[in-house]
Amino acid sequence: MKIGYKIIFLLGLVVCFAYTLKATEQTPDRRPKRPRDDVTSIENTPSALQSSTTQTVEQTPGQLVSQRQAEILTKERFAAVIGEDIINSWGIEWHVFADPTLEFDAPQKSRAISVIHNKMNYLLKKRFDEEFMVLYGSVAGVRGQRETVHADRLDILTIKYFTELYPHAAKIASLDKQGGVQLGERIKVTFPDGSTLLYHVKTHSEGRLSDKSTAPKLVNPQELLAYKILELLGFGCEVHFFEKSPEDVYIATLDASFVSKTKRGEFNVFQKAAGRLGLGGDDAYGQNIWGTLADQRRQISENAEIETWNVLEKNLQSDEIAQNFIHQQSALDIITRTMRLCDLLNNPENFGFTSCDDRLPQLKVIDFRVMDPKELVLEDSDFRGFLVGNGIYNYASSHDTMCYVLRNRPRAARVAHALHIMNTSLIHLVDVINRAHQIIFTYLQKEIFDTKRKKLEDELNSYSETLRKNTEFFKAELEDWSPEKDRAREEARQRVLNRAR
Ligand SMILES: Nc1ncnc2c1ncn2[C@@H]1O[C@H](COP(=O)(O)OP(=O)(O)O)[C@@H](O)[C@H]1O
Ligand SMILES: [Mg+2]
Repeated sequence: MKIGYKIIFLLGLVVCFAYTLKATEQTPDRRPKRPRDDVTSIENTPSALQSSTTQTVEQTPGQLVSQRQAEILTKERFAAVIGEDIINSWGIEWHVFADPTLEFDAPQKSRAISVIHNKMNYLLKKRFDEEFMVLYGSVAGVRGQRETVHADRLDILTIKYFTELYPHAAKIASLDKQGGVQLGERIKVTFPDGSTLLYHVKTHSEGRLSDKSTAPKLVNPQELLAYKILELLGFGCEVHFFEKSPEDVYIATLDASFVSKTKRGEFNVFQKAAGRLGLGGDDAYGQNIWGTLADQRRQISENAEIETWNVLEKNLQSDEIAQNFIHQQSALDIITRTMRLCDLLNNPENFGFTSCDDRLPQLKVIDFRVMDPKELVLEDSDFRGFLVGNGIYNYASSHDTMCYVLRNRPRAARVAHALHIMNTSLIHLVDVINRAHQIIFTYLQKEIFDTKRKKLEDELNSYSETLRKNTEFFKAELEDWSPEKDRAREEARQRVLNRAR
């Protein structure tokens, strides 16, 4: 019974404490802290703009937490409740909390808070008095506040970025993130004419996660470059980068349903077309994306003779929707292979299609990973992976339609189509790489990257160079391919395999 009361009492204390902190934050010179839901907004008046700037400069969420740490975590306070001898035995460096040069999440502070918390947990078995409980509650409150700082920081910097980007917006509101593991949120911009834009904001892939306080790593310029290239090619969404530090870089993408300022399409991840969301209506939706491809493909067996596959190829020629699907999937397969992106076409939650009126569906990428720097250069084996229709991507287990386009389709047709794409849709790929490079290079000139710029620029330069080479390599291999060479290569491979047996 005693324990039950204790838990209720503690919970009450933590809630009260958090509430007090929130109330303290809402001082007149500070914009009210926004709850993390669909209700947050700032009116974009000159004064709101002014106050958002003042807030960032004068009292960031991190500084506020530092201030609370200094007020609450003092040796005197703990000694008065727990006793000086015990407190001395804990070996805490209390001065770190009052040190203005240390950030709220400096390792010295985190270590000390963790020791205090552990020691108090131990004492909790013996102490039931209110004085102790209040102190315990305040430590729990300080710990909780620490974790929300990153989300608040991201929110404030995001609002600031979009306020500057759209100074004439009528309203800029933050909404919760839709899923995924990276820390982030969504931003809705409303214009005076009532039109809106939705952006998805998240930390870079080695940045902060939403549920862990592991230290973020330095941003990887490859990731930024890849986002930009995809945007310029039309396969990615409009993308923006802004930051708190070289480790806390945020990536904002325009919602994939965007078609034009006045037109909104419908975007769905491929998972829906594949019928794996179980939401109903998926079959009909799938047909809008791939036309008759699924039906026609299912009429033949996986082991059918080449002639049967060639007939299917021919039958699909007159299906404009199927052709659009085949074309876009093939182009993105080439891009992911040459740019060394992963977790993309083989993850049906990371890409999808935007449909709008009677336009052909547009393939859009929303998430991906860049490969390890050691694996960036394309090699012979990678091209063989393309020929087989797998390699590093496991298309064998993809939806029938994708598996057809990227694997089962007759190889000669797949190679010819890939070469056609490189000579048409992707003819300017190297120019696009260069343009994207220039944009990311310019972004890295911001003062905040001063100490890391050399490393970041080196990485960026080497990735761009590798991408240009990969593009040339892939095209040359496609040009060089012939059924005869393919057969010879396959026979040679079999001989090696047989010898090894
Ligand atoms: N540009 C976008 N357009 C539409 N939906 C998006 C976009 N960006 C993200 N989302 C949605 O938000 C979810 C999480 O975003 P994602 O970039 O995958 O985050 P994480 O890197 O944490 O996995 C996605 O699964 C998707 O539903
Ligand atoms: Mg994701």
